[in-house]
Amino acid sequence: MKQENTNVTANVLASLEQLSLKDSKEIFHCPSIEQQAADLGIDTEGLTKNALKKTVRDKLREITREEWKAKKRLKLKAKKKEKLELIQTGLLPPPEKKLLIEQEPSNVKIVLDLGFDSLMSDKEVASMHGQIRRCYSANKICKHPVNLILTSLSGKLQTRFEHITDWKSWKNIQVETQDYLDMYPKEKLVYLTADSPHIIQDLDESKVYLIGGIVDKNRYKYLTYEKAQQQGIQTAQLPIGDFVKLASRKVLAVNHVFEILVEFLECKDWEQAFMKVIPKRKFADQESHPNSILEEDA
Ligand SMILES: C[S@@+](CC[C@H](N)C(=O)[O-])C[C@H]1O[C@@H](n2cnc3c(N)ncnc32)[C@H](O)[C@@H]1O
Repeated sequence: MKQENTNVTANVLASLEQLSLKDSKEIFHCPSIEQQAADLGIDTEGLTKNALKKTVRDKLREITREEWKAKKRLKLKAKKKEKLELIQTGLLPPPEKKLLIEQEPSNVKIVLDLGFDSLMSDKEVASMHGQIRRCYSANKICKHPVNLILTSLSGKLQTRFEHITDWKSWKNIQVETQDYLDMYPKEKLVYLTADSPHIIQDLDESKVYLIGGIVDKNRYKYLTYEKAQQQGIQTAQLPIGDFVKLASRKVLAVNHVFEILVEFLECKDWEQAFMKVIPKRKFADQESHPNSILEEDA
């Protein structure tokens, strides 16, 4: 019996060796790249073989991601249902009611300057989108919400923003496609940038603070500082060096800068605001700063 099996295996292997690549692909249901593109509804016209392969790969990745997200949503829903049942049957205590803080709006204006769309990769645009949402959320739950304004929304970020975000239902946010220079007098503007020689001490309600809406892993050095200089706008950096010691450059992600500002409005203490918001990994002495908030790319 064992001998018979060995012979069958040897025969199958011998037959497989005779097959062309095309035959073997058909046998193992591995369609050609053109067939895969057709199945996926991709227009192949004008695409080189390599470009076609990349498009198919990207599309398959996208589908897998969507499937994964759908599965995750279902799992979450089931978990929620299960928890609710446990609460209803008395096996789990009901969740404590969240303490809603009473917000006292401040008149400080913070603009996210989104005029850098073309400088970011798709991944960076997605990260920027996430950072805008974090700013919006931080403003929603802080003690003194500021006037949050998005300017120069355009390109890939605008598409993403309008398709993925339910931003039309967002409150207390102003979304503009126009440039901040068309909206405010220059003398009221202060561009926050880590490269400024000036250090901000307090937040002034008569000013409009600009944050550069870009994720660039610091690829574009002095980008916002030079922009502000060219436009004749005042600049200022956060007083990080006066209060905490960071391991590397003091360039923070947009949402962290925003969160520091709203935190400062509440506690009026820069050190406390930095300790609360800046990710632990950024500190020179990480052990003495047990800060582990969700981190974002800068
Ligand atoms: C990821 S950084 C962008 C870095 C970019 N290379 C540049 O030149 O601005 C995002 C934005 O956060 C603000 N920012 C980051 N770190 C800062 C700091 N230490 N002081 C003031 N603003 C800061 C700036 O407005 C900056 O444009």
